[in-house]
Amino acid sequence: MKQMAEDVRAVCTAAPVVPVIVIRNIAHARPLAEALVAGGLPSLEVTLRTDCALDAIAEMAQVPGAQVGAGTLRTPQDVSAAKAAGATFGVSPGATENLLQAVEKEALPFLPGVATAGEAMQLADRGYETLKFFPAEAIGGAKALGSLASPLPDIAFCPTGGISPQNASDYLSLANVICVGGSWVASQSLMDAGNWDKIEALAHAAAGLAR
Ligand code: 3PG
Repeated sequence: MKQMAEDVRAVCTAAPVVPVIVIRNIAHARPLAEALVAGGLPSLEVTLRTDCALDAIAEMAQVPGAQVGAGTLRTPQDVSAAKAAGATFGVSPGATENLLQAVEKEALPFLPGVATAGEAMQLADRGYETLKFFPAEAIGGAKALGSLASPLPDIAFCPTGGISPQNASDYLSLANVICVGGSWVASQSLMDAGNWDKIEALAHAAAGLAR
C-alpha cells in the first residue's frame, strides 16, 4: 500500500482531533506540544507556513508521546525537509503527481487533501484509503462528506477547514470520518498569552469528543 496505510490510520485513530498548528515563535513549540499531549491529543500537524515550522517540528518531535507531522506539504522539497526535521507523517491541501511521487519515494505516511469524489477515487486507485476532506465547511460540510459514505464506503476521511467544537460532532458521527483536523485547540492568542493550561483544557475536551 503506497500510503503506508497502517501508519496513517494510527495517526488518525490516536484521538478524535488532530490539531492544525501554525508556529510563529519557536519558543511556543515545546510547551504547546506538551500541553496538547497532556490533554490527550498526541498526533500534531505543524503547517509549513512559517519560517520556523521545520525547527518547530524538530523541537516538538522530542516531546514524549508526541507524533509530529508536517502540514501544507506542496513540493518534493517540502517532503524531504519535513522528513529531515523529524516529521513522521505528512498532510497536504491537495495532491499532485510530484507530491505523491515524493512521499512515496521518502516512504512518508501521507494524508492527502481532496475536495471531490473524483479526487478521492483517483487516490483510492493509487492505494490511499485515508484522505483529508478540505476545506470541509466551505465545500459542503458534514452533509457533503456524509454523502460520500455510501458510494465510497472504503475511504475514511479527516475533514479539516472550518471545524470547531460546535460542529466537530456533526463530522465525527459520520460513518466515513476517522478524525477531524482543526486549529481551535492551538490558537495564536492563547499561545501568545502563554496560556498552556487553557490549551491543555481545550485539548482534553477535544480528546473526549465521541466518534
Ligand atoms: C488550515 O488549513 O489551516 C486547516 O484547514 C485548519 O483550518 P481551521 O483553522 O479552519 O481549523
